[in-house]
Amino acid sequence: MTDTAVQAAHTADAAPVAHRRLRFNILRYNPQDTGSVPRMQTYELEEADGMTLFIALNEIKEKQDPSLQYDFVCRAGICGSCGMLINGRPTLACRTLTKNLDAEITLAPLPFFELIGDLSVDTGKWMRGMSERLEGWLHAKGPEPDLRRLEERMDPAVADQVYELDRCIECGCCVAGCGTARMREDFVGAVGLNRVARFKIDPRDRRSDEDYYEVIGDDDGVFGCMSMLACHDVCPKNLPLATQIAFMRRKMVAIGWKK
Ligand code: SF4
Ligand code: F3S
Ligand code: FES
Repeated sequence: MTDTAVQAAHTADAAPVAHRRLRFNILRYNPQDTGSVPRMQTYELEEADGMTLFIALNEIKEKQDPSLQYDFVCRAGICGSCGMLINGRPTLACRTLTKNLDAEITLAPLPFFELIGDLSVDTGKWMRGMSERLEGWLHAKGPEPDLRRLEERMDPAVADQVYELDRCIECGCCVAGCGTARMREDFVGAVGLNRVARFKIDPRDRRSDEDYYEVIGDDDGVFGCMSMLACHDVCPKNLPLATQIAFMRRKMVAIGWKK
């Protein structure tokens, strides 16, 4: 390369990168305000390098509209609080880079859950209710929790299986994307079925297979699932949801389970 060519290449390297102008169409509605009417509101901003939807929404809130409601806690795909419909797909906003989206972006709250306002929904309330119905916690063996047993060494292969299902962050994306959940108010969703599967393989849990089937062996559980697979597609943690559900259903059918 000649000196002139090298210089030209350096000049090209140093040239500022032209950023896109992003247009956000956001569903606005505040159910707490009796005068509020659902509507789409549009905001524009200049894209920045490495911009996530978390950064973009913060910029809109800081510079354009402090009334905009949305949830973020960890910004790292861990807390599960930032699930929303991004161009119609339930996803974590904090893990979504704007560079992977078109310049026109539509945001709406996750359906199915109680709306707090704009993009903020109360997934926690629904998750608590689901967990109480399924008793989605460890039922330790013995009359009193045996702390020594809880700390007992677990077979590494089993521990891996438990850990795999334990990665659920309760973001609600699987429920928001599920057709059955739209039709059956009490459907426990892939998140609930995953919770049961998690304790079912945990050797510290004292419940029998029949105990688990009792809580999920009906149309609000495993038999309500119509294998639509959206849960599997949208889960940001890539949990093997459809596989787990199909496995539990096969087990129940094999023993002729009826509730
Ligand atoms: Fe979210 Fe996946 Fe858990 Fe569903 S199973 S709540 S999509 S992490
Ligand atoms: Fe819903 Fe997933 Fe079943 S999307 S219908 S829970 S496979
Ligand atoms: Fe915690 Fe997105 S802010 S998962």
